Amino acid sequence: MRVLALLDGTTVDPETPLVRVDDLGLLRGDGVFETVLVVDGRPRELGPHLDRLARSAAMLELPEPDRSGWERCVDAVINNWTGDRQMALKLVLTRGAEYGDGTPTAFAMGLPIGEKVLRQREQGISAVTLERGIDPGLAERAPWLLLGSKSLSYAVNMAALRHAAKLGADEVIFTASDGTVLEGPTSTVILVRGRTLITPPANIGILPGTTQAALFRAAERSGWSIKVEPVRTSDLTDNDGVFLVSSVRAITRVNSLDGQQLGDFSALHAELTALYESEY
Ligand SMILES: Cc1ncc(COP(=O)(O)O)c(C=O)c1O
Repeated sequence: MRVLALLDGTTVDPETPLVRVDDLGLLRGDGVFETVLVVDGRPRELGPHLDRLARSAAMLELPEPDRSGWERCVDAVINNWTGDRQMALKLVLTRGAEYGDGTPTAFAMGLPIGEKVLRQREQGISAVTLERGIDPGLAERAPWLLLGSKSLSYAVNMAALRHAAKLGADEVIFTASDGTVLEGPTSTVILVRGRTLITPPANIGILPGTTQAALFRAAERSGWSIKVEPVRTSDLTDNDGVFLVSSVRAITRVNSLDGQQLGDFSALHAELTALYESEY
């Protein structure tokens, strides 16, 4: 089950070729994307996802996304979805064809959520720390690196996940050259200490997460403290819980890190998941 829609609200057979071979998104990864979780026909955090799409587009100096077009396109996918209760909705915007008229390529695609993600949501994951080769000041010094944008250039992130698989792990936590914790290849890191949730700040060159923001909102309302502050690699094993969060995986607990078993975070996982779900 897949549904593909365009910004004018029309749907297209997902088997139909749509993107030209000279599309710069294809040739250079020159574009941006979002992945939104849709549950029972309701997209979660659509506003923050569209805000982030616009922010990423601005970082790549792409034309400003047409927000009402994206909303139309999202509605078209949702209205034509006849699959499971939950869907992953991808929004893709590229610079368009290299030899075209400058029109960006834009589409939204509804996809089923894979078994592996559903299993990991329930059972948690094993992770390894891997170097990202950046220092926390680089994002501000070197805007051309597009750190903190959700660009289509995810080949490095995917390579890191394959490397983790060779090490026998499900996931990765990237670290900066000074040992600061960054993020996962497709997720935000959250630590728990007592009744405090902690996540690294986005200005160190990581993507500001919509799931983390939603969870922190709900947690704060329920009396938790929240902190957005630098996290050290040593903090990953000195805490009351480590989680990787993102739109499709939701809140996933980290069971082991670099081969070392962590605590049993299942009760905390249930509590944080309930908090997150209370947002909807
Ligand atoms: C690099 C990176 N960090 C964090 C996230 C989590 O973002 P969100 O919670 O908005 O899905 C993602 C999402 O895919 C990501 O790719």
